[in-house]
Amino acid sequence: MTKPLNIGMIGYGFMGRAHTNGYKRVGDFFPELKYRPVLKAACARNKENIQAFADQWGYESIETDWKTLIARDDIDAVDICVPNNLHKEIAIACAEAGKMILCEKPIAMNTAEGEEMCQAVEKAGVANTVWYNYRRVPAVTLAKQIIDSGKLGKIFHYRANFLQDWTIAEDLPQGGAALWRLDADAAGSGVTGDLLAHCIDTAIWLNGSVSDVTAMTETFIKERVHQETGQKQKVSIDDACAFLCHFKNGSLGLFESTRYARGHKALYTFEINGENASLRWDLHDLHRLEMFDHADEGIVRGWKSIHVTDGDHPYMDKWWVPGLQIGYEHSFVHHVADFLKSLESGEPCHPTFRDALETQKVCDAVLASASDRSWHSVS
Ligand SMILES: NC(=O)c1ccc[n+]([C@@H]2O[C@H](COP(=O)([O-])OP(=O)(O)OC[C@H]3O[C@@H](n4cnc5c(N)ncnc54)[C@H](O)[C@@H]3O)[C@@H](O)[C@H]2O)c1
Repeated sequence: MTKPLNIGMIGYGFMGRAHTNGYKRVGDFFPELKYRPVLKAACARNKENIQAFADQWGYESIETDWKTLIARDDIDAVDICVPNNLHKEIAIACAEAGKMILCEKPIAMNTAEGEEMCQAVEKAGVANTVWYNYRRVPAVTLAKQIIDSGKLGKIFHYRANFLQDWTIAEDLPQGGAALWRLDADAAGSGVTGDLLAHCIDTAIWLNGSVSDVTAMTETFIKERVHQETGQKQKVSIDDACAFLCHFKNGSLGLFESTRYARGHKALYTFEINGENASLRWDLHDLHRLEMFDHADEGIVRGWKSIHVTDGDHPYMDKWWVPGLQIGYEHSFVHHVADFLKSLESGEPCHPTFRDALETQKVCDAVLASASDRSWHSVS
């Protein structure tokens, strides 16, 4: 007997679509799960647009005010897929209404907001998770398993990049629909909260906590027309950010992100070097995990590329036959599956709000360090 879990989706953009696809697919590929998502209601401010989204993706109803959605008795879980400046208010209202929450990343605009959100969900005791979806790319999950097995030995280095090139044009406006990421009032920060947050979440998951950071940021285009006012306004987000850090396990970290790396669209890469072995991963080739194992026989020792498609690889027994790969969207299906599993087991679905707050703290320390050009501990 399956149990329905009624979903209320807020926002219908990039993530609204990615998550909805996850809810729709999960029952087919994870048939053993007790809970089945039901696309109960979708919400956004424009009635015509949200109705068109609901019709296309199969939501039963619509709302144009998120407060009305949260007040509905027939909604069990709310999915927050709106710009970052709305996360806190919506999440706290959900917690107070006793709704489960699946919130997009970064958890909030800053640590103070994130802390309030954590306290609200913990007080209400509602199930919560934050969509740092890269943890659930099978090759990344495999990296976690290999690292946790101790195969790498003592870790010396962790490095990650997230490179894009879509904001190089000087006449690109900031703010409003689709371009809220360039407006600090809506996004909180630029590449630090948008892209490095992913790198930091994965890094903490794989290599443990960060103790301190030193960073530099740059805003290459100083003024852009704001879509909502039509006026040229100061750009307050970081266009690029690089930082060094110490991890609590004694290893050194090196991170870089920019939207000005001509030729790169979403090049998220990480590499981890231990005394016995190293691993590296590249989002553009996401089904592969590269590994160098110093224990291999000398004459054949070298980097190997593991095609993470076998039935004994994480999540892969749920999909096709060995050798056939899956893609980006499946990371969201896996996240939904793990969330539903967590409801059965009563265990948290990581990353929880509290886990995501740790990433937010690193982001805040990075921005503070870039501002005063000194080392900052991650409090
Ligand atoms: N996990 C990931 O890899 C990933 C990728 C992209 C975005 N994100 C995060 O997801 C969130 C949304 O990003 P996106 O790319 O989907 O943005 P988007 O611009 O594509 O969509 C934003 C949606 O929010 C809606 N919205 C805005 N204000 C609203 C309000 N007051 N009430 C109801 N709806 C409102 C808009 O109508 C739109 O549908 C952000 O927090 C972003 O950081 C995460």
